[in-house]
Amino acid sequence: MIFAVPNAAALAAAFLFSAAVYAADPNLCAACHGEGGNSTNPAVPSLAGQPRQFISTALYMFREGYRKDAQMSPLAAQLSNADLNELAAHFSSQKPAPPRHQAKVDNAAAGPTLTQKFNCTQCHGPKLLGLQQMPRLAGQQFEYLREQLRAFKAGKRGELDGNMTAAAQALSDKDIEVLADYIAGLGG
Ligand code: HEC
Ligand code: HEC
Repeated sequence: MIFAVPNAAALAAAFLFSAAVYAADPNLCAACHGEGGNSTNPAVPSLAGQPRQFISTALYMFREGYRKDAQMSPLAAQLSNADLNELAAHFSSQKPAPPRHQAKVDNAAAGPTLTQKFNCTQCHGPKLLGLQQMPRLAGQQFEYLREQLRAFKAGKRGELDGNMTAAAQALSDKDIEVLADYIAGLGG
């Protein structure tokens, strides 16, 4: 009986330790984000090839409650700063799969003019591949892109600096539909 208390504490510590290791394991992420971070779930974004800084910042935002999601928030809450950086390094070095989405012909034709008109390419890069804190958009899930643009426009998507919420204000529902369809079909 004398060992009951230390054993319980040791068990608790072992459990916490394994929980933390488990949370930082990229294989756990694959259940939702797909093999190698290439999502096949329309509501879940791909992580493969996202800039390292964007991934670590996004995880930090979820962890600290600046960005909220029922699935991501509790998971991010378990991650240390070292975990965020390791996961970011891992997924930024994964190769994005060619897009499975095919844009409608007229949206594909209208897309490039819209991404210039609304400065998408100015921040997200000429081919929308992302850089630093700006996410890669090319080949991202169509539904996810559309949802995020709607959420930014409605002021409901948490972000680091407010730039994207500002950028989304000028977009009509139709612009959002065309942009999401066009961008989801982009490779590179
Ligand atoms: C149970 C499903 C689930 C699991 C497991 C999961 N995620 Fe997510 N993740 C999501 C969903 C859903 C979103 C989109 C949330 C939103 O709409 O804002 C997301 C968003 C993200 C984002 C933001 C991406 C972007 O483009 O904005 C990052 C980064 C991320 N997850 C990393 C991870 C990592 C790393 C792991 C493994 C430690 C992980 N996720 C495990 C469901 C999951
Ligand atoms: C002034 C710079 C700027 C402009 C202009 C801009 N963006 Fe963004 N965008 C950002 C930043 C920064 C983020 C990351 C926000 C965050 O999570 O902190 C972002 C995030 C996004 C996301 C979320 C992606 C994800 O994986 O979570 C989408 C979608 C997006 N932008 C699309 C667009 C489109 C389409 C346009 C043009 C209509 C555009 N952006 C214009 C800076 C910009």
